[in-house]
Amino acid sequence: MTKSSQTPVISLRSLTKRYGVGDAEHTVLDSIDLTVKQGEFIAIMGPSGCGKTSLLNILGLLDTPDEGEYKLNNEPVAKLSNIRRADIRSQEIGFVFQSFNLVPRLNVIENVALPLTYTGYRRTRSLKIASKMLSTFHLNEREYYMPWQLSGGQTQRVAIARALVNNPSIILADEPTGNLDSKSSHVIMEELSDIHKRGNTIIMVTHNPAMTTYADRVITMLDGRIDSDTSKTTIKNTKSVEISDKPTLGERNKSTKKDKKAKDKKSKKTTKENTKA
Ligand SMILES: Nc1ncnc2c1ncn2[C@@H]1O[C@H](COP(=O)(O)OP(=O)(O)O)[C@@H](O)[C@H]1O
Ligand SMILES: [Mg+2]
Repeated sequence: MTKSSQTPVISLRSLTKRYGVGDAEHTVLDSIDLTVKQGEFIAIMGPSGCGKTSLLNILGLLDTPDEGEYKLNNEPVAKLSNIRRADIRSQEIGFVFQSFNLVPRLNVIENVALPLTYTGYRRTRSLKIASKMLSTFHLNEREYYMPWQLSGGQTQRVAIARALVNNPSIILADEPTGNLDSKSSHVIMEELSDIHKRGNTIIMVTHNPAMTTYADRVITMLDGRIDSDTSKTTIKNTKSVEISDKPTLGERNKSTKKDKKAKDKKSKKTTKENTKA
């Protein structure tokens, strides 16, 4: 993660969002201050209704705040033209949702190529780029499958491939493992980890505390405010041990049983060392 510098990609000051009018008005984001640096992997947790999705929607330029300031790459978002906002949204931000949101009529490769149709590439070129992206997710064999023919985990990996096809620098994920079993969840988290290691900034909302181990900073929200904000500088060792132990990575990890034994031995040792530290 060499790209992780001190440059803030996102900076929020007293960001406030309200819904409803009159008696029905309620504040869903209450004066939020937040700075996100390039290359951070942030997990956001908090009870249902505390404003996590509202925050991601504003960060992703899908919604606007009522008060406060949002600077994206040092530029006040409020001053951007609609065209520029749309450009940033389609080129610099990748969204991953809990409900996957693949287009049911389109096959896998067409779904992944979809964001490229707005960039003016020809269809053949778009499909080529989409195919390359799918190969990094080991999903080439599924290119011509329809979304309903995929498992939940595969569907979410296709959705992540689609979110990344434009090479965005910021990934916003709203409970990306919320509809998945634990095995598939860890596969998804490993994908996000890889993306993070390539230098991307990731902000992920999750309900599952186990998923926060992949992040290097955990923010908890309560009633539209940031309740705690913890950076985990020591997480890296633990993280690699956890990932290498997951049985779910069989599809990507073609190692032999012998390799596995050696690895298990090694990771046990590392775990011990971590416990000691
Ligand atoms: N479009 C909307 N109109 C009115 N209220 C909304 C809207 N979106 C969300 N809310 C309300 O804002 C609060 C925060 O919602 P949300 O950001 O979705 O929370 P979370 O993602 O943490 O569960 C909730 O009380 C929710 O009902
Ligand atoms: Mg939500």
